[in-house]
Amino acid sequence: MSVIENSKLAIVGAGAVGTSLAYAALIRESAREVALYDINSTKVAAEVLDLAHGTQFTGASRVTGGDDLDVVSDANVVVITAGARQHPGQSRLEMAGVNVEILRDLMPKLVERAPDAIFVLVTNPVDVLAVAAQQFSGLPPARVFGSGTVLDSSRLRWMLSERVGVAISNVHALIVGEHGDSEFPLWSQARIGPISLADWMLTRSAGGSASSSGSVPFTEAEFESIAEDVKNAAYRVIEGKGATNYAIGLSGARIVEAVLRDEGAILPVSSVLTDYRGVSGVALSVPSVIDASGIARVIDVPFSPKEQALFEHSAATLRASLDTLGL
Ligand code: 2OP
Repeated sequence: MSVIENSKLAIVGAGAVGTSLAYAALIRESAREVALYDINSTKVAAEVLDLAHGTQFTGASRVTGGDDLDVVSDANVVVITAGARQHPGQSRLEMAGVNVEILRDLMPKLVERAPDAIFVLVTNPVDVLAVAAQQFSGLPPARVFGSGTVLDSSRLRWMLSERVGVAISNVHALIVGEHGDSEFPLWSQARIGPISLADWMLTRSAGGSASSSGSVPFTEAEFESIAEDVKNAAYRVIEGKGATNYAIGLSGARIVEAVLRDEGAILPVSSVLTDYRGVSGVALSVPSVIDASGIARVIDVPFSPKEQALFEHSAATLRASLDTLGL
């Protein structure tokens, strides 16, 4: 992969997520310049130095940053990771109020400094904050959206890949809806290579666990168990190490490069929807074509009746949360 000339990625927040995203972006050469901003001047200066010391090994990217918001000036993409962190047992929606207030202050200042940027929210609850950021910025939803279920979809693809013994790049499966407890896999559209997941045959060992191709399809109970594991994946990591950072950092870098390379890549990001399968006015993740304009378009995927009901439940959950916040 080669870096786009003059592309600038600004990352707001130099915590575990922001710095992991910066590290991933440097290694993947997602942008020519990675600029890190944080209110904690000592911390951000140290993080920038630590990253800069490794740039001999990261290709043509450079890292800058500091505690002055002007570090985001003229960025092509601004990723927002700043906010209160999720504590063990706390849901993403429980962190909404404080992070909405941070955005109310931040968004106009960021837009002033990077008026042409695409804004990507990573802070949780990301779907609520995508709505808040869109409203506070006054920009169209195509230019302000959340990382959404890009990470959850990667978790799903990894679990399926391990289960069937096929490369993760050949597992095509998506989580849609809320990035949180009401998310769900779009099983009706999932494929392994050219085979629909419903038709994929598993071999079962004497103990009943599945490995590669053979003679029995996935059961409904297995689908449900995988969906539960994906939904609870972040809780498991947070219990063990206090935060999730590497996988969300990689997911964020992937979204950034889809924009900066004008890829037209399909990623399940979270944007404010207008009559998407009957849902409007909330941000939820659906497969979206990402290019230099941000979201070029959302893709209207056929849902099964069960998926439609789950999607509407996700929308109602978000609507209730937005209502309590006056958004
Ligand atoms: C994650 O899913 C906590 O939203 C974060 O890893």
